[in-house]
Amino acid sequence: MKKAPLPRFQVQPLNSTFGQDIFVKYAKISGELPGPIASDVIATMKKNCYDSTFTYPLVIASGSGCVVKDVDGNSFLDFTSNIGACPLGYSHPDVIGVIAEMSRNGAHKIAGQDFYCKEHADLAEQFVSVLPDGFKAFFINSGAEAVENAIKIAYRKGFAEGQPVLPGVSCTGAFHGRTLGALSFTYSKPVQKAGFPELAVLRIKFCTSDGDQEIDAIEKALAGNKVAFVLTEIVQGEGGYNIASQRFVQNLRDATKKHGVPLILDEVQSGMGRTGKWWAFEHYGVLPDIMSAAKALQVGATAYKSEYDPDQHGVLSSTWGGGSRIDLAVGATVIEVIKRDRLLANVLVMGERLKKGLADLAAGKKGIIDVRGLGLMIGIEFDTKENRDAVLMQAFRRGLLLLPAGQKAMRVIPPLVITAEEVDEGLELMATAAAASL
Ligand SMILES: Cc1ncc(COP(=O)(O)O)c(C=O)c1O
Repeated sequence: MKKAPLPRFQVQPLNSTFGQDIFVKYAKISGELPGPIASDVIATMKKNCYDSTFTYPLVIASGSGCVVKDVDGNSFLDFTSNIGACPLGYSHPDVIGVIAEMSRNGAHKIAGQDFYCKEHADLAEQFVSVLPDGFKAFFINSGAEAVENAIKIAYRKGFAEGQPVLPGVSCTGAFHGRTLGALSFTYSKPVQKAGFPELAVLRIKFCTSDGDQEIDAIEKALAGNKVAFVLTEIVQGEGGYNIASQRFVQNLRDATKKHGVPLILDEVQSGMGRTGKWWAFEHYGVLPDIMSAAKALQVGATAYKSEYDPDQHGVLSSTWGGGSRIDLAVGATVIEVIKRDRLLANVLVMGERLKKGLADLAAGKKGIIDVRGLGLMIGIEFDTKENRDAVLMQAFRRGLLLLPAGQKAMRVIPPLVITAEEVDEGLELMATAAAASL
């Protein structure tokens, strides 16, 4: 059957097309995007699959370091880390070693909450070593399920036969996943929620400034209502890379303690070193009662103070949770490598270099209104969605991968192993993309 042609972007050599004489070592684009093989793959996808959240016509084939190669042989400098899920970049020797070893094991995926395996225990040991003291873990498949189980653990704690179901508190701009329970507390985009049923939610404003008039809203909410839990991110991901103010987070912690309500911190995107600490809440000097992790960990995880342990066998389980043995082994390796190679320090140094470079770029550019971030979790706010999207596509055409966040922000989240040379090349590409679009 004849396939419908896809729209193509004409891409030419950097220094001739865009009038910028820049040296590019990592990003190499030749010909049109998408290339012929990518076009075929995308056409097959469009024919057979739901058209989900694809941003640009990239068909990933392989990767090495911070560079992703597409199926037509183009190389892209990756400032997305697959939304933080590839914290060590690509072809990391320790990860490749683990996968090679696991590939000889014929039972690589098991019913991991029904049968034990060593990789489950190894990841648990590594994971618990970077959690607050006394926390326990439950492994599951995804970030949304990690949040679902955090919510379930909170509900279970306050459970009494015949009692009405209490609402959970969540923030404006929040993203906690797309499964129905987690989706109730998500608020970042109407398209994600329209038409779906919800658990009861009490919504408060996510405050990014200590001076916000609603900074004390949590105390009023908890004084006036019985609630099951308070759930928030510390740095909002999908909502636009918004960083909570210190006082906002402290108020959440104080009010939840005072009213005996569990505080759930969702670290699915911000956790495991992305902000230069294992968890973003460490920047605020607070601890959660329950938390969620995923992405960098390779599997989903709910972690909780031991007093929240559901005291009954079988309250939480799933077929594949704790049973994808390659992912569990890679997750443990990620934590080991972050520790061994002192990657948290690299994140802080490279994060500052990148943020400063982007702030310098923004200073001379109409269209960029803010650059903010913690470590290598950096957001760029544009004046309009159109300008954001234009820069994103221009960057893609030049071989720099970036992703949108929220209504008009862009997220910059390279692998934790990024070098100064790669940061600088990304900044050069970003500058030429901005020059071409703003
Ligand atoms: C903070 C946060 N929570 C939950 C999720 C859902 O994770 P998943 O897509 O793995 O279900 C995400 C995904 O982006 C996230 O950023």
